[in-house]
Amino acid sequence: MPQKRLSETQRRKLIKAAQAVLRNAYAPYSRFRVGAALLTTNGKTFVGCNVENSSYGLTNCAERTAIFAAVADIGPRMGIRAIAVVNDGDVRSSPCGACRQVIYEFAPQAIILLSGPKGVRQTTIAELLPEGFRL
Ligand code: THU
Repeated sequence: MPQKRLSETQRRKLIKAAQAVLRNAYAPYSRFRVGAALLTTNGKTFVGCNVENSSYGLTNCAERTAIFAAVADIGPRMGIRAIAVVNDGDVRSSPCGACRQVIYEFAPQAIILLSGPKGVRQTTIAELLPEGFRL
């Protein structure tokens, strides 16, 4: 069942949390800092930022950092109600393919908020990743 709507306050809080954690991003190579915040169905918030590496392919995106933090803290059976993503560039960014697959695994029903200079786009993983892979 899709998640119930977020209130305007919840949306704003989640985007604020994503903006705050963006300051911790480690992005010396791309200079593109990303922050993500997720809200669990139990009302807990987890945050993540992108963490790059000299070996570029080892970079971990903000979305996956946040989801993995939640799994590490409360376990894989938690429910994710919403995920907000922000960046410090001048365009709204959308999760990369790897993050979409991870969102599909752990947050299949989540509301996804993509925030950019022109406002917030609300979407779902069903829209971003139709026919995602599942074992
Ligand atoms: N990145 C994220 O953290 N999330 C996204 O949704 C898009 C891309 C990061 C990966 C890399 O550190 C930088 O942004 C540029 O690709």
